[in-house]
Amino acid sequence: MQTLPPWPYPRLVAHRGAGSLAPENTLAAMRVGASFGYKMVEFDAKLSQDQVAILLHDADLERTTNGRGNAADQPYAALTKLDAGFWFDVAFRGEPIPTLEAVAQYTLAQNMASNVEIKPTPGLEALTGTAIARQVAHYWQGASVPPLLSSFSLTALEAAQKEAPNLPRGWITKELDKNWREILTRLGCVSIHLHHRALTKRLLGEIHSAGFRVTIWTVNDPARAATLLKWGVDSVITDALDLIDPK
Ligand code: G3P
Ligand code: MG
Repeated sequence: MQTLPPWPYPRLVAHRGAGSLAPENTLAAMRVGASFGYKMVEFDAKLSQDQVAILLHDADLERTTNGRGNAADQPYAALTKLDAGFWFDVAFRGEPIPTLEAVAQYTLAQNMASNVEIKPTPGLEALTGTAIARQVAHYWQGASVPPLLSSFSLTALEAAQKEAPNLPRGWITKELDKNWREILTRLGCVSIHLHHRALTKRLLGEIHSAGFRVTIWTVNDPARAATLLKWGVDSVITDALDLIDPK
């Protein structure tokens, strides 16, 4: 039985800032998350062409902004002109794509913890892992609760580990690879971030016994969230801020 690493994080985490209640990955979403009492937010970070870290889930801009093409092909100066709120609701018209720096300032001021998901544009995994880790280490320097880095990309996690070994890391996966122990150990991860359908109570016990924390995504049914928390899951990421009380 391994000792579990420190876990200074709340048990409930707002997905993409405010789940489904505001335009994802914006500062407006962070504010909505805070208004529901959430003390931790998960969000997706990638790079502009000139390597400014920004929040955006998809590689391309179409779904969540009025831009076209991949964010990685445009300099940050061009991305600042885009509207990342109107697609969601007219009330959010003019909401910009935030920089990682702006989100760091906001979350630190609000005493909110952050789960920075490194979401590289395909082909830029190592570059993104290095740049995001470097910028997170800089913007959150001296934070009482360190941001938790996570990624589906093993390459990005490896690059982050090299760049900022002291930042905690979690590996996101939809299904559990049979080599999960080796992967988590090799990448120096503190946690695995599993799709909720991939978890059983028994598996949770095995992962904890191996010395890793468990974050589960994305759980929107309050009864399911309650069950997982009762099992002893370390954190649950949710869109249902209006249904799941973070206290
Ligand atoms: O961090 C967990 C979750 O956000 C992963 O999926 O696609 O919502 O970024 P996705
Ligand atoms: Mg994510």
